[in-house]
Amino acid sequence: MDTTSQKRLAGEFAVRYIENDMRVGVGTGSTAYWFIQALGEKVKQGLRIQAVATSQHTEQIAASLGIPLLELNDVEALDITVDGADEIDPHLQLIKGGGGALLQEKMVAAISRRLIIVADASKYVGQLGAFPLPVEVIPAGWKHVQRRILAMSCERVELRGQSHPFVTDHGHYILDCYFGQIPDAQSLNLALHQIPGVVETGLFIDMANEAILAHTDGHIQVIRRAADRSD
Ligand code: 5RP
Repeated sequence: MDTTSQKRLAGEFAVRYIENDMRVGVGTGSTAYWFIQALGEKVKQGLRIQAVATSQHTEQIAASLGIPLLELNDVEALDITVDGADEIDPHLQLIKGGGGALLQEKMVAAISRRLIIVADASKYVGQLGAFPLPVEVIPAGWKHVQRRILAMSCERVELRGQSHPFVTDHGHYILDCYFGQIPDAQSLNLALHQIPGVVETGLFIDMANEAILAHTDGHIQVIRRAADRSD
């Protein structure tokens, strides 16, 4: 099975978690895309839900499928969010933001009772850090943030888009930070937040409840956070 088929399998699998009257956070990226398509199909068949999008792009896709949408500011809590990830470690700590939507993704995840991650199995790693960590920054001071991150044993820090910087939905830039290895994701997240100009990081610490991983042979593996397991 190729990667696209794995993403589709994982994304579509997650729709079974959605029940009538739920408020659902809807993720961003090529895996979440398949969840949104399956959710749209269920809505056409009569499923009653309301959704909050994690990006403008996701909002457009969901609206085109007739999924009822609410603004993030207009909800107190969400029952569940289904989103993708760039790396997932055995404790379900994540790197997200490869698609540039990390800020809204984190705000949506933070008000969700459950965060379900959908991914192809290649995203599952022993330790975070091979994937460059996205850090969302204020455009006016990005070079100062870059210098501070380089001083934190980071091999390379690149402005996404370089001479034509990528601008996020919220008007910020993204620095892709090549740490190579992140042995203590929680401490790194806190340290990055101490740098003036950092808006948010792609480290999602203690947020995910489950990861749905689709393998190349077509089987689905569900990994639950230790605190959520009954065994
Ligand atoms: C977007 C994200 C995505 O969830 C992450 O990049 C995974 O994307 P894909 O499913 O396309 O591999 O965090 O900001």
